[in-house]
Amino acid sequence: MKSITDLENLNNQIVLLRLDLNVPILDGKITDTNRIDKIIPTINFLLSKKAKIIIISHVGRPKGKFKSELSLQPIRDNLSLQVNENVKLEKANIFNLKKDELFKSAGEKLIILENIRFYPEEENNNEKFSEHLAKLGDIYVNDAFSCSHREHASVTSITKFIPSYSGLQINSEVEALKKITTKIKKPITCIIGGSKISTKIDIIKNLIPKFDNIVIVGAMANNILKYKGYNIGASLFEKNSEKIIEEIFSEVENNSCKIYFPEDVKVGKSLDDDSFQKSLNQIENDDMILDVGSKTIQNIKSIIDNSSTILWNGPLGYFENPNFSIGSLEIAKYIGNKEGKIYSVIGGGDTVSVINSIKIKNKFNFVSTAGGAFLEYLEGKILPGIRALN
Ligand code: 3PG
Repeated sequence: MKSITDLENLNNQIVLLRLDLNVPILDGKITDTNRIDKIIPTINFLLSKKAKIIIISHVGRPKGKFKSELSLQPIRDNLSLQVNENVKLEKANIFNLKKDELFKSAGEKLIILENIRFYPEEENNNEKFSEHLAKLGDIYVNDAFSCSHREHASVTSITKFIPSYSGLQINSEVEALKKITTKIKKPITCIIGGSKISTKIDIIKNLIPKFDNIVIVGAMANNILKYKGYNIGASLFEKNSEKIIEEIFSEVENNSCKIYFPEDVKVGKSLDDDSFQKSLNQIENDDMILDVGSKTIQNIKSIIDNSSTILWNGPLGYFENPNFSIGSLEIAKYIGNKEGKIYSVIGGGDTVSVINSIKIKNKFNFVSTAGGAFLEYLEGKILPGIRALN
């Protein structure tokens, strides 16, 4: 990929900067600014190169229609504060915009286009639309790793019409993911949780040949316990997951990777119950498995002790109820305390929420802001947005 770090002084050239500013907004207020915070260095970098910037982003899924609650206005306001510059929200129809009519007022450096998904052409990857977008600028920069699994006009087809570069954030995201998929420092362990094993099967299968240990936790581990013949009571499980589990175990047989799953658990009678520690053969019919048990936590800690690289995606339990957040918090702190000794990559919205809740985000080597893109990369797929930059 050609990177913006290779660029010389831009002398007032217009950069079309695709970002993922898809942040949660409630009643017009941003509830988590993480994705905005992360790209401020890219904006400052481009400003230091004397660029004029047109920011392109989406929020939510308006499905090609204008929706006032999905306007980028709150994002414009936050950005403007963070970069300490005026940012103009351009609400005019993109098809009516002309390059030489932009940046008219003296000192104007930043424009943000209104939600790009208000246009059906974006998700249809319409080439006329991306060609028109491309004509608004001199160079295009993709710094939206978390959108790069989408074959959309402002992510992929735009690169056919304008010199295109990767941004700082996408560079560090790809570098971190390469460290755990190709330039691996072994032993390498993946701790993978979440509720549905069917959504993670491709990742697990892709990682088995490369990884030394895969620790399956969260509700998806219930399927393995059930498959192994344990009573999982009223716990969450997926019907017909036996085939998936057989696929995982047969893949393991052909490789040296070890698979781990909980040896003991914490249960409750409902999601808001207190937690009770149980061994696997003590689970009653009305028990719900909602966290890993203390023996399992110890086992995971000793696997971490023997690892040089850790990838963690998906909480260990139902962390929304603090009674069942112990597994996730203990493991978060344990990996965090290995700062400088192991290389750690954390990804997925819920996992990031766990580490944010105890404010230890800076103790990990890389915390990904991407959801679907992070998972698809780990499945071994080449992301269309990355391919387009190459
Ligand atoms: C994300 O939040 O993962 C990205 O913004 C992509 O959003 P999407 O899943 O609506 O395409």
